Amino acid sequence: MDLPSGPSYIFSSDAAFDKLYSMRAQQLSSMHWTPLDIAMKAAEHLAGGPGRHILDIGSGVGKFCITAAHYFPDHFFYGVEQRKALVDEAVIAQNATKTTNVEFIHGNFTALDMNRFDHFYFYNSFSENIVHEKPIDNLLQTSPEIYEEYLSRFYELLDDKPAGTRLATYHCPDDYVPAGYKRLRQLAGGTLGFWVKQ
Ligand SMILES: C[S@@+](CC[C@H](N)C(=O)[O-])C[C@H]1O[C@@H](n2cnc3c(N)ncnc32)[C@H](O)[C@@H]1O
Repeated sequence: MDLPSGPSYIFSSDAAFDKLYSMRAQQLSSMHWTPLDIAMKAAEHLAGGPGRHILDIGSGVGKFCITAAHYFPDHFFYGVEQRKALVDEAVIAQNATKTTNVEFIHGNFTALDMNRFDHFYFYNSFSENIVHEKPIDNLLQTSPEIYEEYLSRFYELLDDKPAGTRLATYHCPDDYVPAGYKRLRQLAGGTLGFWVKQ
């Protein structure tokens, strides 16, 4: 039986999982980090076969990646995150959960070689450039121009991927996704979308 700090406790609820994080990150959770049940469902769609490499574009404190990696230990999950402080929180949570099939990368997703990754998770990461309610911090420059630039880079990267590429979107308008992707399902009141490239 797990002690209250063991995996079955940590993954039992968002409140339990969020205790892995700083008070500030816990306060941001309901607005900015993927809930556990959504992460599990998204991972189920993205886990297209053992050994696949799945990238969370804008991984925050790593909640999607760590949850997905916990439930799909034969897949590898990556998170790219532009804020170093959030990557540091993600690594602390990774170590606390003894998760080995995850890697967090500090940087802008635009600098990554997308050939390394098979499938993608996206929780509307660029909206902080146009929506200013409860910001993560005020340390980065945001603007509608940056939003447009990131969106077009996101669109291009998805467009360049081969048939069979899977995508899970959360709180993300449909027109962010290239027409070559077919939506297979919508869950969580339409907020969670499962896509595959034709
Ligand atoms: C809505 S949060 C989602 C976090 C995580 N994917 C989750 O679901 O728990 C979006 C994150 O994307 C990050 N982000 C935004 N633009 C980015 C970029 N261009 N490159 C890397 N990270 C970015 C933000 O710093 C923020 O942590």
